[in-house]
Amino acid sequence: MPFPDDTVEEAQRLVRRYPVARSALLPLLHLVQSVEGYVSDEGIAFCADLLALTKAEVGAVATFYTMYKREPVGDYLLSVCTNPTCMIAGGQDIYEAYVEACGGHVDPEGAGVMVEHAECLGICDAAPVVTINYENYGPVTKDEALELLDKARKGEPPASNVSGYTPPTFKQVEREFSGIEDGTDDYLIEAARLQASAAAGPSYRTGETDIPVTHPGGDPAGHGGELFREASSIGSSPIRQLATDEDREIASELIDGMRGEAVQMAKHLTGEDDPAPAPPVDEQPEMSDEQVGAATGETDVDPPTDDEEA
Ligand code: FES
Repeated sequence: MPFPDDTVEEAQRLVRRYPVARSALLPLLHLVQSVEGYVSDEGIAFCADLLALTKAEVGAVATFYTMYKREPVGDYLLSVCTNPTCMIAGGQDIYEAYVEACGGHVDPEGAGVMVEHAECLGICDAAPVVTINYENYGPVTKDEALELLDKARKGEPPASNVSGYTPPTFKQVEREFSGIEDGTDDYLIEAARLQASAAAGPSYRTGETDIPVTHPGGDPAGHGGELFREASSIGSSPIRQLATDEDREIASELIDGMRGEAVQMAKHLTGEDDPAPAPPVDEQPEMSDEQVGAATGETDVDPPTDDEEA
């Protein structure tokens, strides 16, 4: 399926976060799963085009890591730990009961579920453990596990008894995993701003001598630094062409806001924003009885009776 323009734009943002484009492959595959619910052949081609990789290279990664699925998952992925501690506690029985109940590993009925066995999930003290979209449930009996499956099929998974969270759908979880909404772009812009104001000279990354790189805190060769330079006319680099008009507008607004805050801070530090000093005590106007009462908490007014309060 062709990917919507929003996804293409988000994918490009992910790629710009990294000095080397192929480093964005893992988050990109999560982004693909957040749209497709798995990684289709088109999803592999999409990543390959964006990162100038071959489809074989992308496919090798997508099939190596178990969190990438090559067939539609449905809304809920149920993973059953079948490593020794959980297996002894009944994990293998649960896994086999799931496969039997679903007639295989994928059951498209209802909300749609996929069942898989998992390696140790790291909470063996709760064995046997089942996860729904990576939220843990345990220890669970076989009946409780089948109830979890039933509720997931209805699109109503309960809150995890371990974390207390109710798992969102697989696509929603995958969007979180992609990191597209984790605030990294804002962080990079701020880090670049700090770095630019520190007046550090640029250094150069081996093999990429046309891209200025300085540290710490932020990498102006990345998305944020590039936006910052573009918006504030600090230098230039070949990657500036990657920024969209919308990116430049956002960066300009951010930098204007930062300048406004800096001016306020400067005024505060120099005392320019101090309120007028209070007059000497003997020049202050006398307070009325009501003002004295309000200031001291003492008042001549009788407290309300029970009847008045009612
Ligand atoms: S063996 Fe199942 S969580 Fe460790």
